[in-house]
Amino acid sequence: MSRRRSQSAVSLVPVVQPAARAGFRIHDYLYFQVLSPGDIRYIFTATPAKDFGGIFHTRYEQIHLVPAEPPEACGELSNGFFIQDQIALVERGGCSFLSKTRVVQEHGGRAVIISDNAVDNDSFYVEMIQDSTQRTADIPALFLLGRDGYMIRRSLEQHGLPWAIISIPVNVTSIPTFELLQPPWTFW
Ligand SMILES: *[C@@H]1O[C@H](CO)[C@@H](O)[C@H](O)[C@H]1NC(C)=O
Ligand SMILES: *[C@@H]1O[C@H](CO)[C@@H](O)[C@H](O)[C@H]1NC(C)=O
Repeated sequence: MSRRRSQSAVSLVPVVQPAARAGFRIHDYLYFQVLSPGDIRYIFTATPAKDFGGIFHTRYEQIHLVPAEPPEACGELSNGFFIQDQIALVERGGCSFLSKTRVVQEHGGRAVIISDNAVDNDSFYVEMIQDSTQRTADIPALFLLGRDGYMIRRSLEQHGLPWAIISIPVNVTSIPTFELLQPPWTFW
């Protein structure tokens, strides 16, 4: 199907910077690298929430990125035990970005990465803002493209793994080969 064909064609496509690929520049980007599983060992581009959540005070060389169960993380998590002191991967939808962030925080997560539920969307970064509840959250909350979230979850499912291992944040200006380390499916 088209996914397979597109992937085999990526090497022909010129590499572009994330800012160019987003089509506009209104966000600051924050980068993380998947270390394991190896088939998604790429540097991913995320955008921090605009007006809630914390910032990274430390760089995690290795920390687990754990897909939340249930994925939308609007209430109690069945795998909350694994999210304690780790980072949760959550899907957009069902409740506000802030609610998801608070759920992960309440389970002891260090940060949350919320991927778009439009899994074929490889270009649109949603600006995550407060809801109307006056609540707050302390942990960093990042938005990830639907395509990227889908590819991470799919790889973990294929390997039967409960989490990925990532480095976050990654200083891409110190990585000369940064452009080559971005996910190939980004450049369809
Ligand atoms: C991604 O989402 C944005 C906003 O909803 C939309 O404008 C754009 O067309 C979508 N792109 C794809 C490839 O689905
Ligand atoms: C990122 O790396 C560059 C190049 O090595 C360095 O000049 C810069 O200070 C680093 N930034 C941070 C925030 O560490």
